[in-house]
Amino acid sequence: MSYIHIKVEPNVSGFGAIVTGVDLSPPVSANVIHEIMRALTKHSVLSFPEQALDADKLQKFSAQLGPFGEDPYIRSMERFNHVIEVKRGAGETAPIFGSLWHSDWSFQEEPPSITCLYGVNVPPHGGDTLFADNYRAYESLANEVKSRIATLNGVHSATRAYSPKGLFSNDDKTRSMKILVSSSAEETVTHPLVRRHPSSAKKSLYVNHVYTIGIEGLNSGESDALLNELLSVSVQTEFIYRHRWASGTLVLWDNRCVAHLAEGGYEGYDRLMYRTTIAGESPVSGIY
Ligand code: SIN
Repeated sequence: MSYIHIKVEPNVSGFGAIVTGVDLSPPVSANVIHEIMRALTKHSVLSFPEQALDADKLQKFSAQLGPFGEDPYIRSMERFNHVIEVKRGAGETAPIFGSLWHSDWSFQEEPPSITCLYGVNVPPHGGDTLFADNYRAYESLANEVKSRIATLNGVHSATRAYSPKGLFSNDDKTRSMKILVSSSAEETVTHPLVRRHPSSAKKSLYVNHVYTIGIEGLNSGESDALLNELLSVSVQTEFIYRHRWASGTLVLWDNRCVAHLAEGGYEGYDRLMYRTTIAGESPVSGIY
């Protein structure tokens, strides 16, 4: 299906695409939004190079994609309360935000559908974001594994990151981001291991290294073994798209079928991104 309002150049693998021919800084028409959503459903990760956005414009563009998601544990910008600054200073030694595989806020009952990340100040090297295609991960599983996991649920929690015992609990004075550690991060929710996307109707493997902490109903040995197997499949090299940033690029990804991580490798340089999330829905099992 072709596009009238945007130009979409898919990556060779079909996972991820570059979108040009549209200026996202003024409000765009409903037709443009419709085409962007269609391209996102098809390619799961979209990058829009050379966009002249600031926090206000990113927030306004994001609002056209749907209602905002709830972003816990990170203090948003004072004047733009749906925008988070993902930032790291040149001399910072604190753990990198988002540096392990995750799907945004999968510990929520209704995790965000889409995340928007805009490159404000991008280092000359390093700082890539890697995306893993969870549709292909699911498709690659043996039929026997697909049947085994069809009705199972993963247990998700923010505990490893944001609880008082989590990765961000040390009060590292060099950290630029304001992270709000809380015991509420120890709460758990369950989501199907195989989820069906509401727009594409395709099944994806819905597990991630940070927030999926077990599998409901299995003893800990079985749970660890199966979860580790699924996690390692989910991030196999052939399912990954590496995004190299340039300042002024906006990237959208669909958390319902994509996991991601932020790489380091830019010591001595600042990195600043603006980030918003769009509300999602309670994940629906692939058996329906
Ligand atoms: C994130 O996990 O949202 C941050 C990704 C990045 O900084 O590249």
